[in-house]
Amino acid sequence: FEVKWDAKAAEKGGWPSFMAKEISEEPEAVANTVLGRTRDGQVVIPELEGLDDLFRGISRIVIVGAGTAAYSAFVGKYAIEQWARIPVEVELAHEFRYRSPLVGPDVLVVSISQSGETMDTLMAVKEATRLGAKTLSICNTQGATIPRESDAVVYLHAGPEVAVASTKAFVAQITGLYLFALHLGRVRGTVPAEVQAESIDELNTLPEKIRWILENEQEHIEQLAHWMADTRSVLFLGRHVGYPIALEGALKLKEISYIHAEGFAAGELKHGPIALVEPGLPVFVVVPSPSGAPELHSKVVSNIQEIRARGARVIAIAEAGDAAVLPFADEVLRIPLAEPLFEPILAVVPLHIFAMGLANAKGLDVDQPRNLAKSVTVE
Ligand code: G6P
Repeated sequence: FEVKWDAKAAEKGGWPSFMAKEISEEPEAVANTVLGRTRDGQVVIPELEGLDDLFRGISRIVIVGAGTAAYSAFVGKYAIEQWARIPVEVELAHEFRYRSPLVGPDVLVVSISQSGETMDTLMAVKEATRLGAKTLSICNTQGATIPRESDAVVYLHAGPEVAVASTKAFVAQITGLYLFALHLGRVRGTVPAEVQAESIDELNTLPEKIRWILENEQEHIEQLAHWMADTRSVLFLGRHVGYPIALEGALKLKEISYIHAEGFAAGELKHGPIALVEPGLPVFVVVPSPSGAPELHSKVVSNIQEIRARGARVIAIAEAGDAAVLPFADEVLRIPLAEPLFEPILAVVPLHIFAMGLANAKGLDVDQPRNLAKSVTVE
């Protein structure tokens, strides 16, 4: 009698792929990142205690990263500017490094990296240090090179991520940036106590809301991906914090399904991308909350009408109960209600599931896509 033992399969814990396992762990990735970072209705990141003077003194923040990490940085920009009232720039690490960036002692350069080993990001951090800026690393891997080279570090607690395409680390990165924004806002006195408290409540309910999507929408999304297995090109549109999510949805599809995909800011549609719309083209649209962001919502609904009038197949990622999108959408992927700034964490989940579903439908290796590495340690 011989027991067949497959170490890789055992690590996947019964899931067909690491990506499937890691998407299922998105609720815990958020919950574990928040754990231990709130105190008496305020966000307090213990690792950052003692840096209050630094945070009060800075006049600007630059966030650097690459790939998926750079998209989480875009969401972070909205949160930091809203809560901490400091101007934030987001820059791809490899662009920052080679253009003589204007940073100095009054600038905090925040790097964001799952692995903490991406050479482009590491070189950007070293350049920032050389120029006299202070550096903070937001990282998922304990003891990695980038946190070691930085003045301060906030670790994410998504747990090890194996699939090349980042999923649970992405939601943890956004969570880490919300926490950092609220910590900074508290220190700088720009976030009223009730906003701190409401935001903490929201952060604590996000895991449950992600679980709702996994339980109620995953099958539907995988079915949709199956029907769309022959698709050649897909567009993604979003506005405000939905814009980086559109970029992330497109990146994930390129990475693991090898399908041409582009993400656009919905407002940019009329300035060019609408020329691409032809009958049958699938367009995913991240729809803001009708109650939380009514102005943005109506703008996005008009975008949907414009593309629908040109024959596009609209797949809306919308709040469950959003009746305004129903008449114009071919498919609606529902997400629970959340405060507008927190919506990206929910809106991205259907897009992660979709990309995985499509790669599976095409019979591709979702964990090890061609030409890509989990961590790129060359410039
Ligand atoms: C590689 C991976 C991407 C990842 C990027 C940044 O290109 O294939 O999935 O987003 O590196 O990685 P990091 O570890 O710095 O977050």
